[in-house]
Amino acid sequence: MEAAVNEKLTRVGPGTPMGELMRRYWQPIAAVAELDAHPTKPVRLLGEDLVLYKDLSGRYGLVERHCPHRRADLSYGMVEQCGLRCSYHGWQFDHDGRCIEQPFEETTNPESHYKDRIRINAYPVEAKRGLLWAYMGPQPAPLVPNWEPFTWGNGFVQIVFSEVPCNWLQCQENSIDPVHFEWLHDNWAQRMRNRDGPYAPKHLKLDFEEIDYGIVYKRVREGGDEKNPLWTIGRVCLWPNALFTGNHFEWRVPINDTTTLSVGWFFNRVPKEREPFVQESIPSWTSPVIDSATGRNITSHIMNQDFVGWVGQGGIADRTKEHLGTSDRGVVMMRRRFLADLDRIAKGEEPKALIRDAKLNQCIQLPIIDRDVFVNGLTRAEMAKREEQRRNATAAYQEGFLFLSGQPDAVRKAFDDAMR
Ligand code: FES
Ligand SMILES: [Fe+2]
Repeated sequence: MEAAVNEKLTRVGPGTPMGELMRRYWQPIAAVAELDAHPTKPVRLLGEDLVLYKDLSGRYGLVERHCPHRRADLSYGMVEQCGLRCSYHGWQFDHDGRCIEQPFEETTNPESHYKDRIRINAYPVEAKRGLLWAYMGPQPAPLVPNWEPFTWGNGFVQIVFSEVPCNWLQCQENSIDPVHFEWLHDNWAQRMRNRDGPYAPKHLKLDFEEIDYGIVYKRVREGGDEKNPLWTIGRVCLWPNALFTGNHFEWRVPINDTTTLSVGWFFNRVPKEREPFVQESIPSWTSPVIDSATGRNITSHIMNQDFVGWVGQGGIADRTKEHLGTSDRGVVMMRRRFLADLDRIAKGEEPKALIRDAKLNQCIQLPIIDRDVFVNGLTRAEMAKREEQRRNATAAYQEGFLFLSGQPDAVRKAFDDAMR
């Protein structure tokens, strides 16, 4: 790949081609639970410093971080009935970024209407299924996708964030790279645990298929065939920056060019015996990437192993130096699709997978193997049997459900209670 193409595909700041593409899609940036616990949160998204808040009327806002008066940090501001007030001299801003109060100016010089000439950048925010979504692109905004799993009930949902120190694209290329599972999660994981035994079943065949909302990958591994492939799932590289596996999503949200917010959304169906199960609130937590004792990456959990793969490629992977093989057919397909989308945007057209049809958005179906299990559930006995089968099939699952390190005890307990 030429250096200029690598730049084009990876840079996300304002005015960059890929930055413009990313701004056309709603991005998950925080959890509803976080803003319930504390009403302001500093965030960095696509290279812009911002503050997310929930005002006293319950409305969300996302505005630029520094007050236009004398640049104080609005994440230390106070939320009001309408909007956010700077704690330094009390200027107040609404969710559209309008300055609606300047206490001293209005007292001493009310006829100047100075506030009418002040405005800050502000972006729409919506809450959906425990997440807060931001849109930073041109109007009219598309809809926040209502992916099918968001409509499911009788499940325990948790949201997990990690700040991964590398560019978003190498994270997303992982969504279309089936072979890594065999090595990073099976063989390497096994070796790190000093387990003897042969290498995991090899990948024999890969296939990739473009769908409306992304690219699906399929695989055949040793011990299976196309009708009944061993441990294979139609996984979706979800456009433009997520992975979807059936009951979990992972978004790779660009914080800036060299830092990515990994946002995991995990759905676990409770046993049939627990129905009807209603989750009071969706917990969120942050999973560490670095082991504080050694200063090295955490390697014990599935997603942490992915992070090792991504971060190892460098802040922004130098794709001029790579040597692609046939295993990378999906990666190539994805890059080409992005380049085609960038051309479309340059011509004033829309990129792939924007959702504007409210009827369609009532429930957007994705390829899901075992849909029936997620929707209708299993009994405790059936669940135990499946878990056993899964553990035997692949080393990566031998350590159980946990995909990420550092789950708080309270969340683990709530999960265990729900699944009991
Ligand atoms: S710096 Fe914000 S009101 Fe003065
Ligand atoms: Fe992985």
